[in-house]
Amino acid sequence: MCGIVGILGTKPVALDLVDALRRLEYRGYDSAGIATVENGRLGRRRAEGKLRNLEHRLVEEPLKGHVGIGHTRWATHGRPTERNAHPHMSPRVSVVHNGIIENFRELREALTAKGHVFETETDTEAVVHLITHEMDKGLGPVDAVKATLKQLEGAFALAIIFAGQDNLMMAARLGSPLVIGHGEGEMYLGSDAIALAPFTDTVTYLEEGDFAVLSHNGAQVFDKSGAPVERNAVKSQANALLVDKGNHRHFMAKEIHEQPEVISHTLAHYLDMADGTVRIPDVGIDLATIPRVTISACGTAYYAGLVGKYWIERFARVPVEIDIASELRYREAPLPPGGLAIFVSQSGETADTLATLRYCKENGQRIASVVNVRTSTIARESDVVLPTLAGPEIGVASTKAFTCQLTALACFALALGRARGAIDEATERALVKELMEVPRQIANQLTDESQYEALAHQLMKSRDVLYLGRGQSYPLAMEGALKLKEISYLHAEGYAAGELKHGPIALIDEIVPVIVVAPVDALFDKTVSNMQEVAARGGQIVMISNADENSAGCQLAAHIAMPTAHDFTNPIVYAVPIQLIAYHTAVQMGTDVDQPRNLAKSVTVE
Ligand code: G6P
Repeated sequence: MCGIVGILGTKPVALDLVDALRRLEYRGYDSAGIATVENGRLGRRRAEGKLRNLEHRLVEEPLKGHVGIGHTRWATHGRPTERNAHPHMSPRVSVVHNGIIENFRELREALTAKGHVFETETDTEAVVHLITHEMDKGLGPVDAVKATLKQLEGAFALAIIFAGQDNLMMAARLGSPLVIGHGEGEMYLGSDAIALAPFTDTVTYLEEGDFAVLSHNGAQVFDKSGAPVERNAVKSQANALLVDKGNHRHFMAKEIHEQPEVISHTLAHYLDMADGTVRIPDVGIDLATIPRVTISACGTAYYAGLVGKYWIERFARVPVEIDIASELRYREAPLPPGGLAIFVSQSGETADTLATLRYCKENGQRIASVVNVRTSTIARESDVVLPTLAGPEIGVASTKAFTCQLTALACFALALGRARGAIDEATERALVKELMEVPRQIANQLTDESQYEALAHQLMKSRDVLYLGRGQSYPLAMEGALKLKEISYLHAEGYAAGELKHGPIALIDEIVPVIVVAPVDALFDKTVSNMQEVAARGGQIVMISNADENSAGCQLAAHIAMPTAHDFTNPIVYAVPIQLIAYHTAVQMGTDVDQPRNLAKSVTVE
């Protein structure tokens, strides 16, 4: 997946393209490039690595065209080199692409046989040659693109400009998001509305299979059959101010510290604070009779969903099936008629999650989504949206989005429990009261991070790190390991504490840190037994717990003292130490905390 932009402007557009790309770097940052039409000819600048490299390039060799396209890349086909960077072009046409052209090998072979010479390892280059080929046969640009789109298979969003055309840009969407922006005599394209926020707040979302022809006067949209269609322009809520780091060193640190506030916002959305009860939107089905809940998501959002399973089963007494989206979508899972499927996604654009949503819809499920971006495709394709009010999350490693997902799922579990009569009103009020305590419990943890710096100093010397947790703390153990892996590049694994003896215990020696998420709850004593098994083998135990350090009954390498929360809300409160451990370890190791290697924030490919 990648970020794409286009501007059909009335003045030089290069710097505005870069500004828009900066807002899209969450989609990838392996390379960046722009192309414009200048004096009828296509010119482009590209650079490997982050956007700033492209900016330096543009200072040395500016581009002056008034119509242009730009791209920030997360490499799928071909290494992240300058040669493979977008835009790709021939003397006639230049293309930026997000997604995957699945039949690119066949297209490449056919075009090579016809004399086209490919310069890159990318799938996108096939699109350039196809359009060029159609134009060489005598078609005009619009018809050449139409003919090309018919030959493409896969998922894509495309923005296309042409030599000799400074009042034309084309766009196409199949499986990857694309937004048209309407300006004063200018038109824009972007992977999302945030990219276009400095230029316009009037946007049109293209639908699956749509393509569009843009000129200074506006956009003509056609559906997949080629028939002209009206797609309404709407006001975007995207904020034009590029969120900054405030006085934090990294976006991740800022986002960790924003959690008390954004969790409060999310709670305010779901709770009647005065009454002490939960209120969720009408999901259009009778929650009392749903036979099963299916949850699906990817990455951190999946771990939020896994905590949600524990809550829904416990408080609503309805069976919950959960699977990673890339698995559920292909295993032909039977789904009960009238079931409810919940999708959890920060971006609302994750390709596997979206595909699984569509599978569940086709199989008779009502669709609910817990999303942070309300205008996203997943939100738009859901019957009901359970928003998280985390605000824009820039750090690639998810933090505040995760705790807001947990917050929304916690509220939903209580609402479901009430609807099914599994909890009474007094229990609901008591649990709502506990939820309302969470922002303060988290704020109190964020006043002094010195112990995390000391711990990070030890962890950075490790080769492997194990995380253990039981019950609701098990997903947190996995999330802790994921966080550490993705930003510090240390190998880490999260296990159910009870599973330790079935294999992972073989890894334990005097140098392996074992981080145990161990709130005092009904399972605490069992977790203590597992810590002792680790201690008996000389492992270095880090206990995250509200119990005092003597309760572990063994020597601890470190003890992270936690506030005492209710066992219901523990997963939200205990998310913070696992975030801080990963953050400080990464800082000490000197990695790129906000944009770790090989990752991207929004993954719109399978
Ligand atoms: C990427 C991100 C993860 C995120 C996952 C799911 O892999 O790096 O942080 O958890 O995608 O993203 P979503 O937007 O669906 O929550």
